[in-house]
Amino acid sequence: MAVIADRCPDVQVTVVDLNAERVAAWNDTDLTRLPVYEPGLDLVVGRARGRNLHFSTAVEAAIAAADMVFLSVNTPTKQRGVGAGQASDLRWIEASARQVAAAATGHTIVVEKSTLPVRTAEAVKAILDAAQGDAGSGKTFSVLSNPEFLAEGTAIADLERPDRVLIGGEDGDAIEALASIYGQWVPPERILRTNLWSSELSKLTANAFLAQRISSINSIAALCEVTGADVREVARAIGSDSRIGSRFLQAGPGFGGSCFQKDILNLVYLCRHFGLEDVAAYWQQVVDLNIWQQRRLSRKVVQSLFGTVTGKRLAVLGFAFKADTNDTRESPAIRICRDLLEEGACLAIVDPKVESRQISEDLGCPPLAAESPGEGGWLPADDPVAAARGADAVLILTEWSAYRQLDWPGIAAVMRRPAWLFDARAVADAAAARAAGLRVWRVGEG
Ligand code: UGA
Repeated sequence: MAVIADRCPDVQVTVVDLNAERVAAWNDTDLTRLPVYEPGLDLVVGRARGRNLHFSTAVEAAIAAADMVFLSVNTPTKQRGVGAGQASDLRWIEASARQVAAAATGHTIVVEKSTLPVRTAEAVKAILDAAQGDAGSGKTFSVLSNPEFLAEGTAIADLERPDRVLIGGEDGDAIEALASIYGQWVPPERILRTNLWSSELSKLTANAFLAQRISSINSIAALCEVTGADVREVARAIGSDSRIGSRFLQAGPGFGGSCFQKDILNLVYLCRHFGLEDVAAYWQQVVDLNIWQQRRLSRKVVQSLFGTVTGKRLAVLGFAFKADTNDTRESPAIRICRDLLEEGACLAIVDPKVESRQISEDLGCPPLAAESPGEGGWLPADDPVAAARGADAVLILTEWSAYRQLDWPGIAAVMRRPAWLFDARAVADAAAARAAGLRVWRVGEG
């Protein structure tokens, strides 16, 4: 919404949320304190806020005044009931649709921006149609699907120069109204128009294909390690084939983030619902392999450290699910750290953007008051050298650019010998770490 406001100064954009604290943070005059860390977002918000970008808790008034409403609420995986663990929980979409139905005036275009299971538009429409049918309400609605393809960390560039914008719907005028907004900065050939269901399914499919590439390359990484091949060489060799392409072939600790796993599980649920058991099993395997990769990493650490990490200090560098974000949702670091805590390790965790409070929440335990031998727990560290002090191993779990130029002699000097580097992202200068006396394991290196 900030980018739309930035690119379309003649469009008034009001972002509403029920959470007053969050809205206040979006209105904070100190742009470094916005609730989301995303490179370049502060500049965009700084340019548009107060001009044609507003943040408010006055939800109903904003809906009443709007020609177009974007539903951008979260749709997490259901935790209980039918479809628990797989289907999306649509309670917030339904609540928002009901709120729009009640507060809208005149004709309103309702745009599904949240990632939704296929045919959700039907439910949204049914709710809006009921309001439309109320005699004398004067309300009419059109529903569009406009899924978002930005990735965290590169969100602003992805929005400013998208590969494509997808608009699904049945009402040609509504589609053109939305297309004309994107048309202010996106070349016309990149604005794709489809029917509603194709649009909803394209979003899930795009994420499933991307995640599948990561599970595929991670499966080959394991094979490289035992055969003496190097997964980066294999990735380069296959990625040079223009039919395969070079992106999204980086082996790592497994994919994280709020979307990939959720969207695939959703796809699996959908396939089962329609009786496509074999298709469901095919996609389920992408998630299973991802979990296996994370487990494989924690087992590797334990095995290498003579079969036990109880009471040993391990330095964990990076907790976010990828670089350039403070987001930890489904971060592979969570499962890997939990496994190591279970084994009794003491983890010294450092991340340039993730706060201790978040790590506590994700690991389900507060930081230790003091390190005590033989006990599993974790401590926040200020920097990589502080994390490595007294540690038997350094684990790199997020590919922050700073980890490419670590001071290996300085780190090695404060570690206990024999000291290990487990580089799950293959970003560190392995030669420098080896020269400093460390034993080095890199994902996918035989
Ligand atoms: C992903 C998609 O890339 C976006 O197109 C989509 O809009 C978004 O989900 C969404 O549905 O909201 P995001 O989760 O922000 O974006 O980040 P990605 O760059 O896709 O990375 C996801 C995970 O895969 C990260 O943990 C990353 O480290 C990992 N990854 C990515 C790899 O392990 N190897 C790679 O080669 C690429």
